[in-house]
Amino acid sequence: MTNNMFFIANWKMFGDLKSVNSIKKVIKLSKNKKFNKAQIIYCPPYTLISNFVKLVKNSKIKIGAQNCHQSQNPGPFTGSINTELIKSSGANYVIIGHSENRATGDTNHIINLKIKAALKKNLKIIFCIGETLIQKKRNKTNSILKSQLTVGLKNIKNNNNIIFAYEPVWSIGTGIIPKTTNLEKQVIIIKKMLMKIWKSKDPKIIYGGSVNSKNISELKKITLIKGFLIGGASQNAKNFIDIIKKTIN
Ligand code: PGA
Repeated sequence: MTNNMFFIANWKMFGDLKSVNSIKKVIKLSKNKKFNKAQIIYCPPYTLISNFVKLVKNSKIKIGAQNCHQSQNPGPFTGSINTELIKSSGANYVIIGHSENRATGDTNHIINLKIKAALKKNLKIIFCIGETLIQKKRNKTNSILKSQLTVGLKNIKNNNNIIFAYEPVWSIGTGIIPKTTNLEKQVIIIKKMLMKIWKSKDPKIIYGGSVNSKNISELKKITLIKGFLIGGASQNAKNFIDIIKKTIN
């Protein structure tokens, strides 16, 4: 996974059967040698995973789920999907710890269990961390990130299967992104934390929160950032392609 630039599309609770076809243009782009370095991962709603898997079969695009249940075994958890089911649907990745799921009950401890469950099934993980606006205003950003990482990674050996997505909650869906210098500083701090907590020398850190085809030229200047987790702008193939082209060019 090294040297790749990640473009991870988080479709959230959007997309129907028809919209699956819109990714054909992105598949075409992914086959262009010029974009060899772009590791594109689509995370559609669970209901569309197998359609996506079929469609990307002959490309290097990968598919991920947006969340998972922490139970490694099947069980009476109505409405939930565990990592076993995700793996069997053909997906290779799973987003864990997204702030929208933290907001509805995912604690750092639950997130830790989910990460363990995903590793057990050989799924790669997009582990989201980030502070809320109130936490930022109270100067709590670093202590929040530290506890998200410390508890989230508890009893998990350093490995190459986790991508760390720094997503300031105040930036998600708001159109607001951090100032480049602040974001760069924050990524350096996260890197140091990971070195200390996880002995991770070269963690893959990506950024998420209102990434679009306009602000990408600014965001891509931060060379420590190895890719982007993209919500709104990933649902439109043209916008998503623009982001990839502007980053790689
Ligand atoms: P956004 O979402 O790009 O729409 O801000 C990002 C995310 O929630 O992962």
